[in-house]
Amino acid sequence: MATISTPEYLLDKAKRRFTPSITNFPGMGALERRLLQTDFPQKPMATPPPGSDLKTIMGDAGLPVVGHMVEMFRGGPDYLLHLYRKYGPLYYADSPALAAVAALGPDAAQAVYSNRNKDFSQQGWVPVIGPFFHRGLMLLDFDEHMYHRRIMQEAFVRTRLVGYQEQVDQVVTQVIANDWVTNDSRFLMYPAMKELTLDIASMVFMGHEPGSDHELVTKVNKAFTTTTRAGNAIIRTGVPPFTWWRGLKARELLEDYFRARVAERRGKEGSDLLTVLCQTEDEDGNKFSDDDIVNHMIFLMMAAHDTSTSTATTMIYHLAKNPEWQERCRDESDRLGDGPADIESLDKLESLDLVMNESIRLVTPVQWAMRQTVRDTELLGHYLPKGTNVIAYPGMNHRLEEFYPDPMKFDPLRFTEPRNEHKQHRYAFSPFGGGAHKCIGMAFGQFEVKTILHRLLRKYRLELPHSGYTTEWDYGGMPVPKDGMHIVLRPLR
Ligand code: HEM
Repeated sequence: MATISTPEYLLDKAKRRFTPSITNFPGMGALERRLLQTDFPQKPMATPPPGSDLKTIMGDAGLPVVGHMVEMFRGGPDYLLHLYRKYGPLYYADSPALAAVAALGPDAAQAVYSNRNKDFSQQGWVPVIGPFFHRGLMLLDFDEHMYHRRIMQEAFVRTRLVGYQEQVDQVVTQVIANDWVTNDSRFLMYPAMKELTLDIASMVFMGHEPGSDHELVTKVNKAFTTTTRAGNAIIRTGVPPFTWWRGLKARELLEDYFRARVAERRGKEGSDLLTVLCQTEDEDGNKFSDDDIVNHMIFLMMAAHDTSTSTATTMIYHLAKNPEWQERCRDESDRLGDGPADIESLDKLESLDLVMNESIRLVTPVQWAMRQTVRDTELLGHYLPKGTNVIAYPGMNHRLEEFYPDPMKFDPLRFTEPRNEHKQHRYAFSPFGGGAHKCIGMAFGQFEVKTILHRLLRKYRLELPHSGYTTEWDYGGMPVPKDGMHIVLRPLR
């Protein structure tokens, strides 16, 4: 089991402070403010076919070389809100990194996610994560996707979740009780949570008992982290020793590892996800090939890891900031006590559900959905030629004051009767996506995160390092707290 020790988080802190990036480089704040006030000349993306009554999508390229990266990485959803208010639901970012149409607001999200005429393919994700996660479920399309999803669905039915949950609880209880440093305002929650969710995956996904196969698990986890990071590389080609190249090498290691594991686990009994994927079949008896399982496992590790880490960390932050909500959630956890946190028990932690919804509304782990048009088509009456990248932004929709009055206020009661602010539009709240590619691991992730929070609340009071403390988010990829997030764990007993 990985331990996050004091020297490790001090080193992590130093790295965060001294690694230059768009989000922390001196002067970037002033540049961002200036760029937000700049009216870049708008130009049409493409001319609609003659005789069509479709409109043209307008946009611009931003600064030379970096495009709108400064505003995007620093502002994330707030920058998109700025674009939505200024230009409406469709805006063409002619970015040098990835030219794409931003499909903003809930109507655009609905059209893209529901994908009525199968105009939008998942190939939009390929330039971002394709080489590292190819043939993962999210990168498959249409009939082929449906075929794989039907088989994988069997690995996520409630009876399977019961088996995973037992293992999740075992790892969480052990790590939180033994590994986390208390009464230390230098403790960083984000890296600690990343370690914990990797520990969970080692057991629940890959089938390694806690503490066993330490060297192998460490090597695989490292390769996995390298692969995940590679999607954010600036130099996006396989030149040694850069990030993209390291990602490709790490992918090779993961393929070898999972191929060997599949050979080991085929035909065996077990309740870890890998063994389950070796067994599952759809109603017609179709099963995954060895290669399918390798590809799906590598993608599943990625899909589950940063998302759960981000969700749990954001919830902890808001609970530390809002002690009345922390007490409310702890009361429910105290009623459950320290017995096994099975999924029936977790269902009773209703306040945690509200806190989770509000936390991922404010900091949405998967900010956007990437798609690509497979033919000439239209979106909200505008022309989109074949091959256009289109990006829907649930992370921005979650901040619309039309649905969420005082949108930046942490107010979990928005999600209760009679307010139900999230139900005013089908896509007012879509942190797990929608349509055919809606998150298959939603229930798994929710149980995992609730287990972490439940165990933490039973053991510690969560405090901010000082009363004025706030954390800022880096929106370069999945939102990450720039400072690693300081949380003080005060033992309750
Ligand atoms: C807990 C937080 C999580 C969040 C917020 C989240 C969010 C999402 C979103 C927004 C999508 C849709 C992407 C798109 O439309 O292009 C998605 C897809 C997916 N997620 Fe999650 N996810 C979470 C946890 C998990 C977990 C724990 C797993 C696995 C155990 C998982 C597995 C997947 C898979 C396989 C897909 C692709 C589904 C498909 O294409 O059919 N996710 N997730």
